[in-house]
Amino acid sequence: MDILAQAKTLSEQGREIYHLEVGEPDFPTAESIISAGVDALNAFKTHYTPALGLPALREAIADYYQRKFSIDISPERIIVTPGASGALQLAMSCLLDAGDNVLLTDPGYPCNKNIAEVLAAESICVPVDADSCYQLDAKRVGENWNDKSRAAMVATPSNPTGTLLPKQQLVELCQVIEQKKGRLIVDEIYQGLVYDDNDYTALSVSDECFVINSFSKYFGMTGWRVGWMVVPEQYVDAIDRIAQNIFLAPPTMSQYAALTALKADTQLILDERRDIFKQRRDFLLPVVKQLGFDVEVKPQGAFYIYANCERFTDDSFNWVKQLLSEQGVALTPGIDFGQHSANRYCRFAYTQSLDVLEQAMDKVDSFINKNKQ
Ligand SMILES: Cc1ncc(COP(=O)(O)O)c(C=O)c1O
Repeated sequence: MDILAQAKTLSEQGREIYHLEVGEPDFPTAESIISAGVDALNAFKTHYTPALGLPALREAIADYYQRKFSIDISPERIIVTPGASGALQLAMSCLLDAGDNVLLTDPGYPCNKNIAEVLAAESICVPVDADSCYQLDAKRVGENWNDKSRAAMVATPSNPTGTLLPKQQLVELCQVIEQKKGRLIVDEIYQGLVYDDNDYTALSVSDECFVINSFSKYFGMTGWRVGWMVVPEQYVDAIDRIAQNIFLAPPTMSQYAALTALKADTQLILDERRDIFKQRRDFLLPVVKQLGFDVEVKPQGAFYIYANCERFTDDSFNWVKQLLSEQGVALTPGIDFGQHSANRYCRFAYTQSLDVLEQAMDKVDSFINKNKQ
């Protein structure tokens, strides 16, 4: 937040700022999706929907899994939520009582820890490194699980590392968590933004996981606040009741818009955008490495590169602040994502055009060279 505030102040002073800290697609929502939202409003679709979501959307999501991954998911198990954020709250509310804990990755998506805290539950932030693709693995779960642990959570592709959870690692995670009678929550919000032909869903490995997804990232609908979750059947009723109390329902017009987002012709536009993100990654990754950052695992998805900057600093927070004030390039320091080796990392987001990325990296180059002398 400090970096964002600093970037904003500099922008207001007329400085050109390169926003490589932004965690949302730069593309506006596709026109066909916007039209569907407008049509819904014009047709007075302005009332609540059922708390679990529009039945037609739950079915369309089931079809999507069939089309994309050739798996059968009953629409009954699909719950439409106010973004992945709503799904994370529902999953944790359902699985954690006060005093229980959930295993998270460090580094990881920072809000998870705070959601657990709101529920008077705890989080065990497990340090993860390149050896496990910055993901949990069976060994780490075994070492950190205790008698108050109820769930473990991973995100694949991950924020901030862009790395995927290897499928075999997921199989082993499912086994160990099942033995412990816990639940695995798999956040697949960046699904669809995977660049090396190895996109998969945890639902093809196990029906026992809670799988979270969203229309925010691949579908380019961050501001519409609509996502979903697939859960084992026995939890649907409890989640229905929790959702009725916390949210009443996800936004109605956004659910109608989401129906269009799932259509095959909209997918063509979204896949073109995915290919643009791939081009950006393929440009940025070699440049980041050439400048002397270390990227130990190839980021295969999302729009992030988590780079080790210890060659330049042992205090990435102040280094990032200095880079912003001297060169106008905003990155996210490792401390935003946890404590583990945080001072040695920063995150680049490629949510800007190739042109902007190129200019920004020239600035980073100048900054590094100037500080060498
Ligand atoms: C890993 C991860 N999960 C969940 C979210 C929440 O997304 P939303 O609520 O917009 O679907 C984000 C947002 O950046 C994220 O990076």
